[in-house]
Amino acid sequence: MLTPNMNYSHLKSSYLFYNIAQKTKAYLAEHPDTHLYRMGIGDVSLPLCDAVIKGLHAAADDQSKADSFNGYMPECGAPFLRTAVADYYRTRGVEVADDEVFISSGASDELGDILDLFDRSNRSLIIEPAYPAYVDANVMGGREIVHLPSSRSNGFLPLPDGDTDAELIYLCSPNNPTGAVFSREQLKKWVDFANAHGSVILFDAAYEAFIEDADLPHSIFEIEGARTCAIEICSLSKTAGFTGTRLGYTVIPKELKRNGMTFNDMWVRNRTTKTNGVSYIIQRAACEVFTPEGQRQIHENIAVYKQNACTLMQALDKLGIWYTGGRNAPYIWMECPNGMGSWDFFDKLLNEAQIIGTPGEGFGKCGEGYFRFSTFGSPEDTKTAAERLVALLK
Ligand code: MLT
Repeated sequence: MLTPNMNYSHLKSSYLFYNIAQKTKAYLAEHPDTHLYRMGIGDVSLPLCDAVIKGLHAAADDQSKADSFNGYMPECGAPFLRTAVADYYRTRGVEVADDEVFISSGASDELGDILDLFDRSNRSLIIEPAYPAYVDANVMGGREIVHLPSSRSNGFLPLPDGDTDAELIYLCSPNNPTGAVFSREQLKKWVDFANAHGSVILFDAAYEAFIEDADLPHSIFEIEGARTCAIEICSLSKTAGFTGTRLGYTVIPKELKRNGMTFNDMWVRNRTTKTNGVSYIIQRAACEVFTPEGQRQIHENIAVYKQNACTLMQALDKLGIWYTGGRNAPYIWMECPNGMGSWDFFDKLLNEAQIIGTPGEGFGKCGEGYFRFSTFGSPEDTKTAAERLVALLK
């Protein structure tokens, strides 16, 4: 008889955002005409910018004519988009070759798929609170997880110490869910640790475009030594509103090798076997994000989300509630008032103010007592939600 992947039996029965969606659905079934203020899952509310929409239309037209039609795309990404991404890195002073860039259909897909490159015996270090997909992808693959709890006392940015021991290391900066961002000096400590121990860092840079402080690193490859120990995974979901359009990119330097194996070559082998690439239309449109006009337009949208963050931060300041994030990240991580548990606070906000956020406990045990707001909602809803929050908690 066939044996299923029994690792699935070690997963929590359902995924965090699915749980929230179910609770929300149940509430709406009982209160059908209620407007909810959705600040739970980090899904964007603004439409794609004009430059991308024009790109989508032009690419659809290309597909209508024999001389510009594209069939299968190169598995690792269209050359024009790999070049555009490498050029984008260059504008920030990071040298990346075109064939070190791999185009994907999004960071969350890639963060799971990339585990194919590593033997199951490797342990994965996950800083918690963490994006729950890191944990679940490793549980599904039967990997041992080394949980590294973080807290308010280390700014939710723990560093390696004498006890740190793992082959794979997940770093997410700006962090989901806490919004905390590693400084160059802090990232250098992780890079040095990984090089000294032969570990590999999986660096999730999905929120890099939200960094406003000039001295904070956007890419791990800004750190000396990272090319021999890191893979960077990025996405246009939050940067350019591609949550429903789907496009991401991954950088694997050619110097990244272990045991005589080169991870860049291995990923080429993997992609050419396991995918037929991302659709031409989406890649063509994604290219527009990296033009000067595209950059101007996406930053106009990011500014709207940043204004939402300010609105929420002002409300929390008024209430005297401790929080982090918001400034260099689209998430605000707050302490639940009066020592409440995070799911209790979720229920209170939903029932008494019709606001949806994400309970900190969903990001790991040490997230208990905290709560996350996404700033990707509409400005109108965010403003009203902030007022309702103040009225409820003052
Ligand atoms: C989140 O809310 O944490 C994100 O939207 C999840 C994701 O990017 O998949």
